[in-house]
Amino acid sequence: MKITPSLLSVLALSVGLSAFTVSAASLSLTQLDLTLTEQQGRSPKATAKTKIADKVFSNGFLTRGSSDLYIALDGKVATFTASIGIVDNPNYKEGAAVRFEVLGDSHLLYASDSVHPGEAARKIEISTSGVKTLILVVQTIDRLGTLAMWADARFEYSGKAPVAIKREIESAVILTPAAARTPKINGASITGVRPTHPFLFKIPVTGDRPIKYSAKHLPKGLSLDAKTGIITGSVQAAGDYTVILQAKNKLGSTERELVIRVGDTLALTPQMGWNSWNCFASAVTAENMKGAADSFIKSGLIEHGWTYVNVDDFWEYRPLPGDPIEADINAHGLALGKNPYHISPMSDPKLVGPARDSQGRINANARFTDMPGLVSYIHSLGLKAGLYSSPGPLTCGQCIASYGHEAEDALRFAEWGFDYLKYDMCSYRNYMKDTSRAEAIKPYELMGRMLHNQNRDILFSLCQYGDNDVWEWAANLGGNSWRTTGDINDTWGSMSDIGFSQNGHEAYAGPGHWNDPDMLVVGQVGWGPTLHPTRLSPNEQYTHISLWSLLAAPLLIGCDLTQADAFTLNLLTNDEVIAIDQDPLGRAAHRITQDRDVEVWARTLADGTVAVGLFNRGEISQTVTVHWSDLHISGQQAVRDLWRQKDVGSFGGEYSALVPRHGVVLVKVSSNGG
Ligand code: GLA
Repeated sequence: MKITPSLLSVLALSVGLSAFTVSAASLSLTQLDLTLTEQQGRSPKATAKTKIADKVFSNGFLTRGSSDLYIALDGKVATFTASIGIVDNPNYKEGAAVRFEVLGDSHLLYASDSVHPGEAARKIEISTSGVKTLILVVQTIDRLGTLAMWADARFEYSGKAPVAIKREIESAVILTPAAARTPKINGASITGVRPTHPFLFKIPVTGDRPIKYSAKHLPKGLSLDAKTGIITGSVQAAGDYTVILQAKNKLGSTERELVIRVGDTLALTPQMGWNSWNCFASAVTAENMKGAADSFIKSGLIEHGWTYVNVDDFWEYRPLPGDPIEADINAHGLALGKNPYHISPMSDPKLVGPARDSQGRINANARFTDMPGLVSYIHSLGLKAGLYSSPGPLTCGQCIASYGHEAEDALRFAEWGFDYLKYDMCSYRNYMKDTSRAEAIKPYELMGRMLHNQNRDILFSLCQYGDNDVWEWAANLGGNSWRTTGDINDTWGSMSDIGFSQNGHEAYAGPGHWNDPDMLVVGQVGWGPTLHPTRLSPNEQYTHISLWSLLAAPLLIGCDLTQADAFTLNLLTNDEVIAIDQDPLGRAAHRITQDRDVEVWARTLADGTVAVGLFNRGEISQTVTVHWSDLHISGQQAVRDLWRQKDVGSFGGEYSALVPRHGVVLVKVSSNGG
């Protein structure tokens, strides 16, 4: 009998791959443990009979968005062959593109240029002799959500069979020195409030306790509690009031200006806070919200400008089959009793109750027995509170929402004392006459108006996943931020594809209105009730916070703060990094240069300096360079490393840094003396 390579691969499988040594064999990529792939959300798949540009392949390794798979070879694998391309699917957005790469022991063995949907598969044959670690990479170049495929991929080998392995992850190094013991005032240097509306501002100060707070030139109507540093009251007349904030402890004193802009614009810098979704999701309780608020104080987050404590979906009741709204919902193609998140709140009796009272006012569910009490507790700490609803009759989690009750709900939220509303499209899609922009704007314009009618400021956060080019219209109807993408999760594929796809949106961001690439996925996350440490590596987490700060994104922490470790808190309390996000000029970064998986993003700051992110989206450390000419500056420039809070020197013409896998070096560049 003739022993063919494929027969050998079957034999190899039957006796266990890692131990089997043969002289010549062939193994399909799909026989490896593909679950070790790093990619967004769903598990990577081996698939059969899938098409690329109408050509059917007998098998394929299918990945979603950016992904990487590490494979151990023994140096005796002669070749890796595959056909690569994007799987046929009519729903891809125009302009979608990915890049394929194959790396062997830190060398690039193959890199495609942009691969687009509908293009014929490209056949690659790569010599892998001598290689010990092979990495298969797909990187999203533009438009998210494509399915890339390594089709009919095989290894020809003479030693041990290739084995998929876990990549080595760097240790979690805290880069930032501890805050000084002398007092330092942190956070935004400008804040907005509407005339006559309640003002609430805690002066964020680091340094040894106790701190004594004072303020000069506070406008009439405001007063400061010298012990807590909380300023409250209201101001009648519109205008800019420049207040001198002062803080003193036994080691010294400091002061800093704060502009209180009494006018019509809120969120003069991007909102900073916490949201329950990425950790507790449908399991959220009032205790979680209180726990987050207490953590802001205990861990000192409040001293760095973190302000909003927001409950997402599931503070409301869930109408069940038989509810009076069922007929209308059914008529619009929706059904009650579905559980979109496949978890067990359907059986939680605390979610079953009267969604609205006899006057149509929305009720909080039995996990939130005292909404006004909870909000006033949050306020008493110097923090603000946020909640969530949908313009449709149901939220994404099938709880009751605001359709037909917009005025009552806005009033109710204001009466409860809320400062923030996230308004999530969800079921409203079924209530739109068509998919036109006018139809998409309608419900947001309505709620924007209702919020504006209240006697307190309620920040308005739109969530409709970036449909209908929301950045072009949301600010006009009072939107303070708008989601630009679908939901994030705690994977490199998800976070990096979302973050690096924001280029071009910067033109629409500015004081009062911000692009929102979704909430942070550092710390203990998990979409409740079970949590896990973020699957982002430490360097990926530095990339996440650096990129979001450069983008002038709302910073909403998505983890359980009661469990935040020192590394997570370090990521969230570096004042020089936060200052980039909160820069009062509000000019968001864009991509300055890109060379394959190396990208430089930059934004100009109010003081004329430039914040620059040197990013490496690749699998191996690389030197990343920013040229002054690309920043439209020249001459000697001082460079400061913001994560390390350290001056690195003065440089003419350019600055280069070695950046680790999926990592960043975030610097501030200023003309010497500036
Ligand atoms: C949508 C949003 C998420 C979250 C959930 C709640 O998926 O995009 O951010 O609010 O709904 O159900």
